[in-house]
Amino acid sequence: MQSPMPLVVILATGGTIAGTAAAATDTTGYRAGALGVEALIAAVPALAGHRLESESVAAIDSKDMDLATWKRLAERVAHHLARPEVAGVVVTHGTDTLEETAYFLQRVLAPPKPVMLTAAMRPATALSADGPANLLDAVTVAGTPGARGVGLVFAGAVWAAVGLRKIHTLQTSAFAASDCGPIARLEGGVLRAFRDWPQGEALGLARIAAAPDAWPRVEIVLNHSGADGRLVDAAVASGARGIVVAGTGHGSVSQRLAEALARARAAGVRVARASRCAFGPVLPHDAADLEASGELSAVQARVELQLALLA
Ligand code: SIN
Repeated sequence: MQSPMPLVVILATGGTIAGTAAAATDTTGYRAGALGVEALIAAVPALAGHRLESESVAAIDSKDMDLATWKRLAERVAHHLARPEVAGVVVTHGTDTLEETAYFLQRVLAPPKPVMLTAAMRPATALSADGPANLLDAVTVAGTPGARGVGLVFAGAVWAAVGLRKIHTLQTSAFAASDCGPIARLEGGVLRAFRDWPQGEALGLARIAAAPDAWPRVEIVLNHSGADGRLVDAAVASGARGIVVAGTGHGSVSQRLAEALARARAAGVRVARASRCAFGPVLPHDAADLEASGELSAVQARVELQLALLA
């Protein structure tokens, strides 16, 4: 007997992939999150042969992604993954904060099944919209036996969540990862894997049980010429419990910014060091240095610190 097609659940959150513009030539002046998930699926005739379920979790531009939506999304992903008949989940999302959501889901769920985010740089109404092919590829990966973890399927490549970065404002190849290439590529719908699927220990949904307005605030501060640390003092004064510093180079900060960060630590604020460089890790100075953010970008380090402070 032939085994049935894998069942994939598509959870929609909005983004340019669901965006509409007044003209097919308009790729920047559009409304993100305007189309429902059924319309996204209907735009891909090749999905007709797939076993799919779909659900709308949100319909937003991802610049407005918030903790309440993250929490609801994590709960819905976990719900569907717990169903034995579900092979994997696809999340449609805006590109702008996708690396934060992907990292959040990986840290909270570290799923033993694939959870593939996908997105688009051009709205659904554009000439040569990139969303339909990305969605088809994401469904293919989410239904692939042996695939696991949270990733991004975009422009023919599969990226792990950890270290993922949006690197271009307009081009359709808009993502990369620090120091390492994609996990896999898709050519004509055929998956060619180069590296292991992401693994990790899940923090679990209990970690994010608190009401979102009770989550600790974590701010990002940049080192730059003339950085004097006043933003750090302001963040501490306004109740931040954590600060990520996007330092220069290997996470370095100016003298005055270092002094402000020392004042913040003395006040009980946790500090994490990332870099404003596009690529490369920030490594610990020694074994006792717990501030270095490794492969994480500053925005992913912010998610990590917030989840740590929730413990
Ligand atoms: C968004 O992030 O929701 C808008 C931009 C995009 O999806 O490319």
